[in-house]
Amino acid sequence: MSAKKVTAKAAAKKKAPAAVEHLTHAQAKAELVRLALEISLHDKRYYQDDAPKISDAEYDALRRRVGDIEARFPDLLTAESPSQRVGAQPLGRFAKVRHAVPMLSLGNAFSDEDVADFIERIQRFLKLDEIPAIVAEPKIDGLSLSLRYQNGELVTAATRGDGFEGEDVTANVRTIKDIPNTLKGKAIPAVCEIRGEVYMRTADFLELNKKQAEAEDTVFANPRNSAAGSLRQKDPSITASRPLKFFAYTWGEMSETPADTQFGMIKWMAKAGFVTNPRTTLCKSVDEALTFYRGIGAERDTLGYDIDGVVYKVDRLDWQNRLGFVSRSPRWAIAHKFAAEQATTVMNGIDIQVGRTGALTPVARLAPVTVGGVVVSNATLHNEDYIKGIGNDGEPIRDGVDIRVGDTVVVQRAGDVIPQVVSVVLDKRPKDAKPYKFPDTCPVCGSHAVREEGEVVKRCTGALICPAQAVEKLKHFVSRNAFDIEGFGDKQVQEFYADDLVKSAVDIFTLEKRDARSSSKLMQREGYGEVSVRNLFSAINERRRIELNRLIYGLGIRHVGEGNAKLLARHYGTVEAFERAMRAAGKGHDSEAYEDLNDIEGVGEVVADAVVEFFAEPRNLKAFHDLLGEIEVLPVEQARKDTPVAGKTVVFTGSLTKFTRDEAKAAAERLGAKVSGSVSKKTDYVVAGEDAGSKLTKAKELGVAVLSEDEWLKLIG
Ligand code: IVH
Repeated sequence: MSAKKVTAKAAAKKKAPAAVEHLTHAQAKAELVRLALEISLHDKRYYQDDAPKISDAEYDALRRRVGDIEARFPDLLTAESPSQRVGAQPLGRFAKVRHAVPMLSLGNAFSDEDVADFIERIQRFLKLDEIPAIVAEPKIDGLSLSLRYQNGELVTAATRGDGFEGEDVTANVRTIKDIPNTLKGKAIPAVCEIRGEVYMRTADFLELNKKQAEAEDTVFANPRNSAAGSLRQKDPSITASRPLKFFAYTWGEMSETPADTQFGMIKWMAKAGFVTNPRTTLCKSVDEALTFYRGIGAERDTLGYDIDGVVYKVDRLDWQNRLGFVSRSPRWAIAHKFAAEQATTVMNGIDIQVGRTGALTPVARLAPVTVGGVVVSNATLHNEDYIKGIGNDGEPIRDGVDIRVGDTVVVQRAGDVIPQVVSVVLDKRPKDAKPYKFPDTCPVCGSHAVREEGEVVKRCTGALICPAQAVEKLKHFVSRNAFDIEGFGDKQVQEFYADDLVKSAVDIFTLEKRDARSSSKLMQREGYGEVSVRNLFSAINERRRIELNRLIYGLGIRHVGEGNAKLLARHYGTVEAFERAMRAAGKGHDSEAYEDLNDIEGVGEVVADAVVEFFAEPRNLKAFHDLLGEIEVLPVEQARKDTPVAGKTVVFTGSLTKFTRDEAKAAAERLGAKVSGSVSKKTDYVVAGEDAGSKLTKAKELGVAVLSEDEWLKLIG
């Protein structure tokens, strides 16, 4: 992962989709189209490329949303909907096999209630008073396979594909030791399709990956992908060299069924020569099923292979037949998925990533471990306090245990894709492990990093020069309320930054000079011509003369918005005075300059500290001076302190006839008054024009002085 991105931030920023019940018919229709596209993309990544991009939980959520939208707008349901099919079309590499009985998928349960609902649904459907016996099986995280035997001999092995048509992988499957070529026993049905999961044991997967890496060959992301990749080899001898395993758990077409229960069928499959999962358990109540789920969940790390939940199946086959299927899944079975997935590993180090707002995020470097089917070698440690064992509210977390390099840690991957370190196995702490010292400087640009009071995040102060923040800061620099350069927006910032043409603010103003000297001209860029380049340079040149407040805002100092930038500009008047004051204020909170800054009405300590920090960083100062070398900063008329309204808060209300609202505001501010939009106890004057309404009433209630326009004019002279 590059040091520049903190994916958690990006994920958090992603807008949550609108609640289904709030969608209009048109929105729902558009959303279904979008979801279908997204799902088919993920299907392709999962089934065909063996490289899923999102977690199963996220994928399930997408499908659930389709189901929810279709339930609300049944007329939008089409035969092409993802709810009507399973998986993607298989790749054309292997011959296609049509499944005699479709290989469908399972519905999901995420909570105990979902499981209880599942059982109740079955009882209702079958009109049962008693709880039906349920077989609980681990849900193996591999890929399903259908094996067709005729007269006891394996004739075809096919992957699931889209559920109706899969790939013929017979030659490869014949090399898998767990899969018999000939069935054992006497009463073997003439046609017998056994289905189950091809998977790879964790240790075998790690070993294989090691070999692959040494041979500079494909390294797999997880055992599932590794199993899929190994099964789909063109050359069966490669599959033969891969440690593939198989658990049998269900069946397709059968000329006769040798048992009348699920449990009986599993026993029969074992007798016929298959490996069945030893943990398979017959449960007589919901409680028993949930106990199985929790038990196997707790032992997950020690099973030696990945499971992603438990599958519950109605034991009696006659009941299974009566229950049948709804769209793509059986009514008689459900998958109870594990929520957060955890694993234990050693933390070898801590890296600090710098986000685009300058936030320093500690990332644990881990000895690779599979967490719920994905190999994890990095996990977030959130922030400095989190490492120390302090929560966001200042209270201890993990009983106050800190996290140290060398510790054995528990890593968790929840629905969210970014894994996190959740706890420490203290017994395994090396004797020489030392508390982690969070850096005071930015690892990307070397500027000092600070943590504001009440904040958990430490930030790089090198706003102008830190490459990790550069693009965002540059976008801000050229934005409408800052330098506002026509024809130079986000897109140009991104392109020019990527091509090393503009790395910092000053580069914008030296672009023309450099272009004149350079052999590869801007004009030759795609989308640019002579005229557009000339226009761009003239737009840049127009902004060489810039108001102080725009410059201050453009620096992108934290907490300094447009309003604060104006307050600062008006207070100091010139860029020289401003810089001098900020450097003097950096001497300490008790300096006169700091007090003066802090006393500016509307500024306050948070803003004051942020500006002082900015100017205390030599790298920022250099960038600031480089910029000043290219531009002319227009002084701002300073707020006056010697007028009758200096320091007073004024509210204008009603329709003004002697001056416009903007004029009134500008004049008041010039005279040192603060103009506010609402009346409070702090208001000194309310200037009421014609038809003044609620603000006037409020002023009277609070006893605030009310002036007519004429009285105001008289007051300000
Ligand atoms: S039964 C008609 N049992 O989970 C449903 N599936 O989400 C037949 N899986 O495609 C599936 N372990 O790849 C069943 N013990 C188990 C399973 C299992 C893993 C997989 C299988 C299936 C998927 C459904």
